Amino acid sequence: MTFRTPPELVELWGDFIGPYEQRVETCGKHVEAIVRRLRCKTVLDNAAGTGYEVQYLDEQGIPIDVNEIDDSFRKKSEERFKGTSVRVFDSDWREMAYTIPKGYDLEMCLGNNLTYLHDREEQLKALQNMRAVLNNPGALLIDHRNYDKILELVEEDPGFTSRPLDNHNIYTGDLVTVTPRIVTPENVRLHYQHTEKPIEEYLNLYPFGFKEFRELLREVGFETVESFANWEPITDLEDFNPLTLDENTFFQHLAHK
Ligand SMILES: C[S@@+](CC[C@H](N)C(=O)[O-])C[C@H]1O[C@@H](n2cnc3c(N)ncnc32)[C@H](O)[C@@H]1O
Repeated sequence: MTFRTPPELVELWGDFIGPYEQRVETCGKHVEAIVRRLRCKTVLDNAAGTGYEVQYLDEQGIPIDVNEIDDSFRKKSEERFKGTSVRVFDSDWREMAYTIPKGYDLEMCLGNNLTYLHDREEQLKALQNMRAVLNNPGALLIDHRNYDKILELVEEDPGFTSRPLDNHNIYTGDLVTVTPRIVTPENVRLHYQHTEKPIEEYLNLYPFGFKEFRELLREVGFETVESFANWEPITDLEDFNPLTLDENTFFQHLAHK
């Protein structure tokens, strides 16, 4: 089955993630710092969405290609890069090794994306393919929510599933609430509700644990993995406990090939 973001979700996504300028602060500048630190010459955004990160990196003069399987999201990048040498791909992560040529110093997959795949074999396949298109050395920057904490909180308080999550450290929009209606170790069902328009949609997501995600990255062959909590480096990785942080924490992993 090929994943497509439901049209209702694409429609409210801009209001959910907030204005471009704020997104640059919560995401774009952090990516740029990594590009500069690793001296990356080629970047692939492997889940471009609205294309805000692509736009920001392009404006900073950083060469970037785009992959996006959802037509309405992809059109934004196609329009932006019409007539330029930037390549815009339309490739499922589970098959992309056949369609996206190798050659990237940094690949980003940000926005709690891999969690769309529930099957472990598919998660591994996607990560293998993401690794395959990287140069050697090269790095994958990928993130996910603090599901460890979300699972703990629902155990402690059943009312948790009627309370919207506070995402403002990553998504700065004020017009869309996100409520975790169902939370089990196999599935988290998020309810996206526009507060001013009659638009709502659900996403079913696989709740990766922090350690589990790092292990998947090691299993597909990444040699070292740096991890961040809301972009702050986690220095004591051996003893790190994700339950000490809030449910609104996003973990970013920078996996090196
Ligand atoms: C909710 S959007 C997030 C987009 C954007 N990076 C952001 O943070 O706003 C989820 C993204 O995952 C991508 N996606 C989900 N499953 C995919 C798959 N199997 N192959 C390729 N892309 C996939 C979608 O195309 C979409 O870009």
